[in-house]
Amino acid sequence: MDMTRRPRRLRRDGVRGLVSETTLNASDLIAPVFVDATTEARVPIESMPGHERVPVSEAVARVEEVLATGVEAVIVFGVPESKDERGSRAWAEDGVVQEAVRRITAETDAYVITDVCLCEYTEHGHCGVLASDARENWEERRSDPGVAGGARTGGGLTVKNDETLDLLARTAVSHVEAGADMVAPSSMADGQVGALRAALDEAGHENVPVMAYAVKYESAFYGPFRDAADGAPAFGDRRHYQMDPANGREAMRMAERDAAEGADVLMVKPALPYLDVVADVRREFDHPVAAYNVSGEYAMLKAAGEKGWLDATESAYESVLSIKRAGADLIITYFAEDIARSLP
Ligand code: PBG
Repeated sequence: MDMTRRPRRLRRDGVRGLVSETTLNASDLIAPVFVDATTEARVPIESMPGHERVPVSEAVARVEEVLATGVEAVIVFGVPESKDERGSRAWAEDGVVQEAVRRITAETDAYVITDVCLCEYTEHGHCGVLASDARENWEERRSDPGVAGGARTGGGLTVKNDETLDLLARTAVSHVEAGADMVAPSSMADGQVGALRAALDEAGHENVPVMAYAVKYESAFYGPFRDAADGAPAFGDRRHYQMDPANGREAMRMAERDAAEGADVLMVKPALPYLDVVADVRREFDHPVAAYNVSGEYAMLKAAGEKGWLDATESAYESVLSIKRAGADLIITYFAEDIARSLP
């Protein structure tokens, strides 16, 4: 037995910190904040214990709570007072995100990122302009037992790609005009990064960066978020625009495409089940890499913690540390405040 190698020498107190490869800082973390135009009071999000939707009047107070933990950046999501076919409240000057961002940027030093999508704003809950026959196709397919996949087979086209781009671009510009520091398109429309970049530049916002949801999978881990933001599709699913979880090489094409369209930051989402993809994007690109530790990843640790099956605080820290070790520079996580509070 070769006993020259004893890695345990470096695991002793005193030296362990010196050889530690990865450190989490509060400045790595981005806290999601939900602002809800349908409520006058804070509403707890049942499937995400510890998180709430807050009315516009509480948006500043909510962000101040985040800042008090040491986290310096937030990503804002909105629940509008009403929805329509095209999602017009997404780009309204007096929309919920616009109102909240105006107040947050006027009254705090937070770095404010906005999620640019339409699913919270459309009646049908899809992330763009619906194809006219999408609902019928889906219903027809669902009732046809001969079709492989049954209910989950939504025909072909659900959302019209090119018609969606203009709406996303308008939404992004309206967020920036309200004060947003960075915009993050998440609808998975092809060309969304280029469309936002062009519209922002044309409006004189060439210094506002775009964080692309470059590699966004069609994931079951978004479930609790769809309760939180009221953005679940009314029918069908998102498999025609979000990525197939089976695909890792495709992620490189997605990141390459968004980089070419001018993305400043490349995001992978979800994080934990896709750490191989985070590591690959890190290796292949020199852009900052973001990872989104999504709602389901939060909910499962919280639920197990509540049952006493694992230590939610320690497993959360280990998860987020691992996302950083895999290569993420920025981490969007519902654990941001908990973790920042626990850092030395
Ligand atoms: C909007 C959007 C979603 C999430 C972030 N932006 C929902 C979705 O794509 O279904 C999910 C975030 C989470 O689960 O924490 N499209």
